[in-house]
Amino acid sequence: MKNIVLVGFMGTGKSAVGRLLSRRLKRPFVDLDDRIARQAGRSIPEIFAAEGEAGFRKREAEAVEWAAALKGRVIAAGGGVMLEQANVERMRSAGLLVCLSARPDVIVRRVLASLSSRPLLNGPDPGARVEELLKLRAPFYAKADVTIDTSDRTIEGVVGEIQKELRSRNAE
Ligand code: S3P
Repeated sequence: MKNIVLVGFMGTGKSAVGRLLSRRLKRPFVDLDDRIARQAGRSIPEIFAAEGEAGFRKREAEAVEWAAALKGRVIAAGGGVMLEQANVERMRSAGLLVCLSARPDVIVRRVLASLSSRPLLNGPDPGARVEELLKLRAPFYAKADVTIDTSDRTIEGVVGEIQKELRSRNAE
């Protein structure tokens, strides 16, 4: 059974949706950032501080390689996974790529409380940074198989949309 891989920008709800979806589908949940932090023995901001973004991306690619061998899971990937074509190909070969999206203002509202755990947004103007990164990343997120806008939906609503999509593809 293929995996369901949740991708998309920070603050679009991947972890919360992934946890509920895994319960609904009775499939184990895997959070790639948790795996990276465990393997490194440091938190994500600590990895960025000590090893730079390049060090983090290397660890992320290794986690993707590991995850691509899994079956029947719900996997939440970090927001940058789609930036690397090799990651996209590995994840797609092992599952359906479901991209969660949201409007920039909604993303900013959701991430404001947790900026210290998001090194890429934790600067003087998180709002401008979100806009800038969203523009840069749009073509990469467009490579997903399905995109669901979470801006005006509850977590339950998003999970329901994903289940509908899975049913239509006979993938539930
Ligand atoms: C990142 C997103 C984060 C985490 C890291 C880099 C990104 O994950 O992997 O800070 O490049 O978008 P979430 O999307 O789960 O916040």
